[in-house]
Amino acid sequence: MLAPYSFQLFANPNAGTPGIVVLPAGGFRRAKAEITSWPGYAPTPLRDLPKIAQAAGVGVVRLKDEAPRFGLGSFKALGGAYAVANLLRDELARRGVALSASSADLLAGTWREATAGITVTSATDGNHGRSVAWGAQRFGCRAVIFVHETVSQSRIDAIAAYGAEVRVVPGTYDDAVRETDRMAKAEGWQVVSDTSWPGYTEVPRDVMQGYRLMADEALDQWELPSPTHVFIQGGVGGAAASVSVQMRARISPAPALVVVEPEHASCLLASAETGALTAVPGNLDTLMAGLACGEPSLLAWQELDRAAAAFMAIPDVAAVDCMKLLAKQGIVAGESGVAGLAGFLLAAADPAARETLGLGPDSRVLLFNTEGATDPALYEQLVGHPAG
Ligand SMILES: Cc1ncc(COP(=O)(O)O)c(C=O)c1O
Repeated sequence: MLAPYSFQLFANPNAGTPGIVVLPAGGFRRAKAEITSWPGYAPTPLRDLPKIAQAAGVGVVRLKDEAPRFGLGSFKALGGAYAVANLLRDELARRGVALSASSADLLAGTWREATAGITVTSATDGNHGRSVAWGAQRFGCRAVIFVHETVSQSRIDAIAAYGAEVRVVPGTYDDAVRETDRMAKAEGWQVVSDTSWPGYTEVPRDVMQGYRLMADEALDQWELPSPTHVFIQGGVGGAAASVSVQMRARISPAPALVVVEPEHASCLLASAETGALTAVPGNLDTLMAGLACGEPSLLAWQELDRAAAAFMAIPDVAAVDCMKLLAKQGIVAGESGVAGLAGFLLAAADPAARETLGLGPDSRVLLFNTEGATDPALYEQLVGHPAG
């Protein structure tokens, strides 16, 4: 199905080691109750891909398609916006304005006078910032979103369309994360980051609890028997770790989870190889904009270090081929959205990788298309026609 592009695969020697609970169950219950109550909520589709399963020599392949999520085009709609709602509620309580404001109150603008004076801020390579901006608009506060210099104009415009101020900073996504933190400290803004670091974990934990909903829905929609393998793309690792936690919460034994990253931004693979959280240097050059991260999220790493079965790094060409492959089947998938599929197809076509991952005719594979055409101009350029 794909040309035999070279890729890296690293089987995690720590897989299965017990460790701390990164995302407690109660936090997910609250996230699910909240997000499913929002106007416009609908589970995204789980799509069967029988031709791909047959060509790859496995039993079942199903793709959870996040493109329609809340009209934002990616699964990130579940995380940032949810964290904004929580943060505003906490802030209203801290300021003595409302001890337990509901998100319905926030949506109705009941506390607008107070929330309008709160600024949330975040770094983004596109999708997370869109979610934070959307949440800020919905729940009634101001948003300032930092993007690094290679984030495309159409991604910037999509964030600004939700009323956020967008600031462009030199360097990479990781530089934008640091600039956000610096400005937030100087201005008294609230950071709503999708990545976490020592001393900053509570908001990203909310973000990740929100992401779990896509995995939870996928398992509700999955026809038994349960998946044996999950391939999920990694940026800072938040999405992969959330999926991992939800798989382990609902399926025993949990499916083998394979984290797939771009070859020049594979900080999770590098961390697995060194056995400790590791940043990768360089400009993180990849078409897969959402995955162009050089430093893992601390929380994500705490989960993936011991729960991921393996880590892969793949070239951009494999992602482009997968966008075209899905387009032929009527599925609109963006550059970062297809990395898991690309990793799966490369591994499935490679006898040594099949063996390492235990892929065979009985395997049942769950994939996540984490974004649609979130950069429509780039989608058209890569696929050859508009998303339509
Ligand atoms: C479409 C898409 N998929 C996957 C990811 C990876 O998520 P994480 O950075 O939490 O690993 C991102 C991150 O921005 C994304 O935009």
